Amino acid sequence: MREPAGGRTTGIPTGLLIGGVWRDARSGMTFTVADPATGDAVAEVADARPDDVPDLVEVTATAFPSWSRTPPRLRAELLRAAFDELSARSEEFARLITLEMGKPLAESRAEVRYGAEFLRWYAEEAVRVHGMTRTAPDGAAMHLTLQQPVGPALLVTPWNFPLAMATRKIAPALAAGCTVLLKPAEETPLTALLFAELLHGIGVPPGVVNVVTTSRPGPVVERILADRRIRKLSFTGSTEVGRTLLATAAAGVVRTSMELGGNAPFIVYADADLDAAVEGATTAKLRNGGQSCVAANRFIVERPVAAEFVARLTERLRAQVTGPGSDPATTLGPLVNRAQRDRAVRLVHTAIAEGAEPVLMDEPEPDSGFLRPVVLNHVPHDAHIAHAELFAPVAPIYLVDTEQEALRLANATEAGLVAFVYSTGADTLLRAATALECGMVGLNRGLVSDAAAPFGGTKQSGLGREGGEVGLQEYLETKYVSFPAGSL
Ligand code: SIN
Repeated sequence: MREPAGGRTTGIPTGLLIGGVWRDARSGMTFTVADPATGDAVAEVADARPDDVPDLVEVTATAFPSWSRTPPRLRAELLRAAFDELSARSEEFARLITLEMGKPLAESRAEVRYGAEFLRWYAEEAVRVHGMTRTAPDGAAMHLTLQQPVGPALLVTPWNFPLAMATRKIAPALAAGCTVLLKPAEETPLTALLFAELLHGIGVPPGVVNVVTTSRPGPVVERILADRRIRKLSFTGSTEVGRTLLATAAAGVVRTSMELGGNAPFIVYADADLDAAVEGATTAKLRNGGQSCVAANRFIVERPVAAEFVARLTERLRAQVTGPGSDPATTLGPLVNRAQRDRAVRLVHTAIAEGAEPVLMDEPEPDSGFLRPVVLNHVPHDAHIAHAELFAPVAPIYLVDTEQEALRLANATEAGLVAFVYSTGADTLLRAATALECGMVGLNRGLVSDAAAPFGGTKQSGLGREGGEVGLQEYLETKYVSFPAGSL
């Protein structure tokens, strides 16, 4: 373990984790991790290139046979020990998440709780992998199915939830008996490195969890997937990168789970409880500063309640305290980097040029990673912003006159991750849940994320599910065995 530059992340490993050993990149190169609040460097991390890949894949593949045969109870107990250890060290992890990602400490603490739940949930699931037996319809044969780990897995995680997205993949993979090679986002590798060290500390055998950090993910990931021993890819990130990875994975017919971009509608019907709707809207918009694929991206509001909803939401967003995530008073941290901030500002300006009415908008400070909340009313339904994933505290409001118009507009997107609906009518809610083209629906709730529930999308928001019982299946193959009835 090496000390990172700047002395602010003392004790965090900064190398590649290869078969239980921390190593420099072969080239000796490093890249800088910066604090989004200040732009200051906080660590130098090993910068892998394709020539680092063979060692990483070799240890991941070599550890697979023995890990896949490790009794489920033992795998479960290691995951439970990881949950206990992470919970005991939650403040250390929360501070690190805030340092490298920027979110306010309270949100980082919530992320640690959320991330730890995947460890606890899959500790409980690891011993409940069920096969099936059946008599063939003609009575001549018996059918038996075995659930077996798919194989060594490449896990590619994003910067917005540096811990939870790693545990959401690692926990089911390990529960199923897969070994993993984790590639965290270059913006936020430190949390993943510290978590990998935690796993080794509680006794996960060398080679079961390996980590590669790189500032050039494209060629490194391509090289990993070119090795036919990697049998699974789980990716969370943009639809654009997901498409490229799907094409790369296709060459080796690698099993994939893709958790991609969203464009969540947040529908407020005229009969909604507006207190609840404003509360839910604030959560759905501002969690993680809006930098989440399940953030409310389009507020679709029935005209009779629009003025009041907009006024109350604006008041809530105006009251946010912007500042460094480490300041206890802060409720809205910086965006992860300036490029994200500038992209959001451009989207807002384009929407205004297209006819949107700015209700809340401070001119963003130049050369800063911060963006105060923005509310845009009367956004034209066909505005450019209606098709962009915002990843920012920007709330565009689209007015509609009927339930059908709301649902039509909600579905008018290639994304299909999540939708939120507020109404006091059970029938209205159920009609919406049925009609919305997406993988998850929050009814009178602005947050659906839960380790015990199947998270994932339809259309271009992805393939497969993470979390819940289904999340384990993503790391299992079904093998069917047939034998003559009455034999064996
Ligand atoms: C994501 O933004 O990718 C995941 C958010 C969540 O799990 O709630």
